[in-house]
Amino acid sequence: MRMKKVNWIRTLAGLLLSVSLLMSADGQHARIKIDTDRTIGEVNEMIYGNFVEHLGRCVYGGIYEPGSPLSDENGFRKDVMEAVKGLNVSLARYPGGNFVSNYHWMDGVGPAGERIPRMELAWARLETNQFGTNEFMKYIKAIGSEPYFAVNMGTGTIEEAQRWVEYCNVKEGPYYAELRKKHGFEEPYNIKYWSLGNEMDGFWQMGHLNAEDYCKKARETAKLMRLTSPGIKLVAAGSSNYRPNADPDAWNGTVLSELKDVVDYIALHIYVGNPDNNYYNFLSTPLVCEQRTEIVRGMINKEMQGANRGRRDPIYIAWDEYNVWYRARTSESMRGTRALEEHYNLEDALVVAGFLNVFIRNADIVKMANMAQLVNVIAPIYTSDEGMFRQTIYFPLQLFAQNAHGTSLDVLVDCDTYDTEQFFIGLGETTTQQSDVPYLDVSATYQDHEIVLCVVNRHLDEAITTDILCQTGQFDGNFEVYEVNGPDIKTMNDFGTETVQSVRKEELKARGELIEYTFPPHSFTLLKGRIK
Ligand code: AHR
Repeated sequence: MRMKKVNWIRTLAGLLLSVSLLMSADGQHARIKIDTDRTIGEVNEMIYGNFVEHLGRCVYGGIYEPGSPLSDENGFRKDVMEAVKGLNVSLARYPGGNFVSNYHWMDGVGPAGERIPRMELAWARLETNQFGTNEFMKYIKAIGSEPYFAVNMGTGTIEEAQRWVEYCNVKEGPYYAELRKKHGFEEPYNIKYWSLGNEMDGFWQMGHLNAEDYCKKARETAKLMRLTSPGIKLVAAGSSNYRPNADPDAWNGTVLSELKDVVDYIALHIYVGNPDNNYYNFLSTPLVCEQRTEIVRGMINKEMQGANRGRRDPIYIAWDEYNVWYRARTSESMRGTRALEEHYNLEDALVVAGFLNVFIRNADIVKMANMAQLVNVIAPIYTSDEGMFRQTIYFPLQLFAQNAHGTSLDVLVDCDTYDTEQFFIGLGETTTQQSDVPYLDVSATYQDHEIVLCVVNRHLDEAITTDILCQTGQFDGNFEVYEVNGPDIKTMNDFGTETVQSVRKEELKARGELIEYTFPPHSFTLLKGRIK
């Protein structure tokens, strides 16, 4: 009888083994292990930043459209503002971008009727200057965000940058502080974050400099700005140029070594695309962002040895422009009032989720990030005269910004991987090849016993059943489940049809140390629950 029982158990074990072998042949079974003691760093809210540039219809016809029945008394589009608020924009970069390198802020303040129109040379438009510093600050207040200004390090002077800081941050007394008051803005704005130019490593930048000349100018500009407003935080223009004849590491090396005592952040930019229509290559592109983060992290660590920073934090990384951008990149689509109007699909949304996972996985060093841009211009929100819709990329950003906070955890992810071919990540850039790309791309945050897992299933057609194990404590109660997905990776949203959006799914029962969840193909899932 006993023997029989053993045999029966053996048969059952054999059966289970064959089932699990069958499963691994037909579909992988993955594992995510959570250990709340394995922390990476605090997620800074400023990674959920955005960007408003005077480019195409980002400002005019985007956030600002005086005279439109859809706008309020300040000329702000109410429908757009509501969508912007949904993104919890923690930080808004302004006014450029390439635009800033020939922007003279005095053109955009004072009575509207006296503002001078200018040729906008970066993106070939007429800049009316009807929207400027004070209009932007009104907008920032209305959406409850924090401003992040860039000064003109191209055609601008160190004196012009100093005067802008005085206009914005000095309460009273000197000429530019009094000018702000005369313009009707009694209280200073106390703008804390300022970047020393934009993409100064790029030959396309108006007033482009070599690294040594940039550092000299940035150092002197920083000096005057800090003497005017001592509490400000400064961001150096790091690498944006990854074309074959550029040397981004040399640029960053010089910037970090020359400005290591001066700046608080180094700005990096990345745009990726799928011009060859290769889904798996494209889905791996956030890993390039992670590799570049690693390289710059090493450079920062080296320079921080022996830096003379007093009690200030070490230099952090600001990915202050990131996104998918490759369709609206012909000479025609980069000019005029309809410039850079990229229409996004589901695979783009998955790549954006991948970027956000990278920022969280590197939360100890990436303390700022700005999706480029906010409205119409490579943006999550798209308008017409009659209305707006939320593009696919809106939804992962919204889910992260609303849920992923606290401490970033170093979770173990055990799943199948794939290798890519050699490919271009963006137009004009050098090529890359990625090995061992995990099908599951994961980040985790933990705060007050709440755990949030952000998971992209990169697999095009396989659902991935995953054991999620808690190694420190037990799951406690149901998990909320949100999913961004669609019928097809090429699905786009449009006016009246937001097919790709975040959908709240049935809650997941979670008791004990193990939960099982099946991540659908080509999806982004956010799981939120508790650990006791
Ligand atoms: O975001 C669009 C443009 O991309 C910005 O103006 C510039 O900084 C970058 O090249």
